[in-house]
Amino acid sequence: MISLQGKVAVVTGGASGIGAATVKMMIDLGAQVVIADVDEESSAALEKALGHTGNIAACRTDILIEDDIRGMIDFAVDRFGGLDILHNNAGIPRTIAPDAEVTGLTVEMWNKTIAGHVTSAMLGCKYAIPKMIARGGGAIVNTSSSSALAATVDLVAYGVAKSGLHALTREVAATYGRDNIRCNAVVPGAVMTERGRKTLPPDIFQLFATETPLPRLAEPEDIASVAVFLASDAAGMVTGQALTVDGGMMTKLPYWLPKMRASRGTAFDESTYGYEAPD
Ligand SMILES: NC(=O)c1ccc[n+]([C@@H]2O[C@H](COP(=O)([O-])OP(=O)(O)OC[C@H]3O[C@@H](n4cnc5c(N)ncnc54)[C@H](O)[C@@H]3O)[C@@H](O)[C@H]2O)c1
Repeated sequence: MISLQGKVAVVTGGASGIGAATVKMMIDLGAQVVIADVDEESSAALEKALGHTGNIAACRTDILIEDDIRGMIDFAVDRFGGLDILHNNAGIPRTIAPDAEVTGLTVEMWNKTIAGHVTSAMLGCKYAIPKMIARGGGAIVNTSSSSALAATVDLVAYGVAKSGLHALTREVAATYGRDNIRCNAVVPGAVMTERGRKTLPPDIFQLFATETPLPRLAEPEDIASVAVFLASDAAGMVTGQALTVDGGMMTKLPYWLPKMRASRGTAFDESTYGYEAPD
């Protein structure tokens, strides 16, 4: 049984998508949770929806601003008396930090993406760790992406930032383990968040659907449950790890599979895989 009874958590980007699912799950498991998000309207709506528990508070936070990150940690300590869990989850949208293939990148685009996806997590750790040490330990969970595991071609800064998050995860785990602080990353593939459903082009959706071994795509709750596990005492001996939650997408070699099947004389089932086997 996973319990977060008595734990205080901060979830960045907690107002929607994966973050909101994590906030709800943490509250259900007994934690006191701070929603740290730039979107005040969605934060207030979630705070209101879960307000009857008395265990939730929103703190307007822009993770691109160091003072805001320091402020969200101080807010959690002031409001709930300490800090046990930090979920560095917020990711800035491509409208704020456009990305490109490497020949099309500007330094400004690069810097914004790095700032939004990895500098922010480093700063979260910087301000959370002393508070966790004061409490006798804690757990940090960083939301990465399968873009850290394989190239996505026109998301070079994002891929580099999320890969950097894995290095940050290992560094924090190795440095603060003796302070009883664990640090892990959850690594989603494609997730059907509300925003994702609205913005994902149908052909890309179809591609994900055909290439994912499990017969459905991930919902925010699928990522949240793993983030919550990593944050909980149930993962008490897990640290420095990056746990992929992608329905098996990254474990499959999409172009090799049809050839291997063909070489074994197994018919290639187009209805399952959605494209023709290459010659
Ligand atoms: N959805 C996916 O398919 C997917 C896949 C892999 C990784 N991820 C990662 O998961 C994390 C969460 O993404 P999501 O899909 O739930 O997105 P989302 O857009 O549904 O939610 C992101 C939240 O972050 C908040 N946010 C944006 N900029 C912020 C800022 N500057 N300061 C504070 N909060 C800010 C938004 O207001 C929003 O509430 C991100 O780190 C993203 O890179 C998502």
